Amino acid sequence: MKNREILLVKRPDGAPANEHFSIKETAIPELSEGEVLTRLLYVSVDPYMRGRMNEGKSYIEPFQLNEPIEGGAIAEVIQSQADGFQEGDIVTGSLPWREYTSVNAGSVRKIDPALGPITTSLHVLGMTGLTAYFGLMDIGQPQEGETVVVSGAAGAVGSTVVQLATIVGARVVGIAGSDEKVQLLQQLGADAVINYRTEDVSTALAEACPDGVDVYFDNVGGEISDAIYPLLNKFARIVQCGAISSYNKKNDQGPRIQQYLIKSSALIKGFTVGDYRERYPEGFQHLSKWLQEGKLTYEETITEGFENILQAFFDLFTGENVGKQLVKINEPSHKE
Ligand SMILES: NC(=O)c1ccc[n+]([C@@H]2O[C@H](COP(=O)([O-])OP(=O)(O)OC[C@H]3O[C@@H](n4cnc5c(N)ncnc54)[C@H](OP(=O)(O)O)[C@@H]3O)[C@@H](O)[C@H]2O)c1
Repeated sequence: MKNREILLVKRPDGAPANEHFSIKETAIPELSEGEVLTRLLYVSVDPYMRGRMNEGKSYIEPFQLNEPIEGGAIAEVIQSQADGFQEGDIVTGSLPWREYTSVNAGSVRKIDPALGPITTSLHVLGMTGLTAYFGLMDIGQPQEGETVVVSGAAGAVGSTVVQLATIVGARVVGIAGSDEKVQLLQQLGADAVINYRTEDVSTALAEACPDGVDVYFDNVGGEISDAIYPLLNKFARIVQCGAISSYNKKNDQGPRIQQYLIKSSALIKGFTVGDYRERYPEGFQHLSKWLQEGKLTYEETITEGFENILQAFFDLFTGENVGKQLVKINEPSHKE
């Protein structure tokens, strides 16, 4: 059996590209007591990974040069020396971009296929779903009839936020970058959708939000967010989830926002989903209930092949994905 892994070999100074990575053949690892040998099935590519490619302190350690990239993944156990795990188990956890990996069984969790297709553990019943749930419900606290604006609205986090805001009875305005995404958001229940690539965002927002903005769930930062601040209502809440428009930039300056926050007595709060680790069971419970009731759905863009992981990651920054971007590496040996 051959094994391959993807290493970071150079830190990007702008958009990530093939020259920053290397795909290398490597040996199949030996198994020690307490470990499982896994075969990669799906990889999640995520915008936050770009931040880990930079040097320096953040909320999470940077990737090391000449070491494999790692992130959310689904794998199948093909050998086990750990109690409670056996061949054929499907697990999820943070795994290296390597086809076969031995990991401590304590660092992965078994996926319960009864909850839904296994890929949901990488989005709506996983990291991006929990991000949407806690960011919106805990920080945004939307009330029935309020106006919620969501940027990056057709992505993994954004498309879940749009639906959750609809569930609580808010008026939802989504912002996304293609007509296909506009259509999807309309189907998901958004009351108005703006294509920021073809429309003037300030003009379109003024039309879409005649009563102002009560909650802004920000996935993108930059000029799109600059257009929101003047519309904030009294006691508005800004959920600062992401700022993908600046991840590939060294300097990103914009209008000062303090005056808007003061005028509206608005709250702006950044967060990472890990802040809510203790409350994950609550998030899972609500998300899976809404999923089972058909109130929540999800969209996936699935690229195939280990050698295409990097391109799928690069494509996040040009918006090729609709919903959650995943890469399928292998079929499970036993059908779901
Ligand atoms: N705080 C947390 O714990 C946490 C957790 C997960 C994710 N996040 C953040 O949440 C955001 C969304 O993450 P995700 O996983 O759901 O990714 P995603 O939205 O599925 O994918 C990224 C999307 O961002 C949009 N985009 C890319 N470059 C842009 C730009 N310059 N301006 C505006 N939009 C741009 C693209 O859609 P368009 O076609 O619409 O441009 C693209 O499809 C990211 O900023 C991510 O870092 C935060």
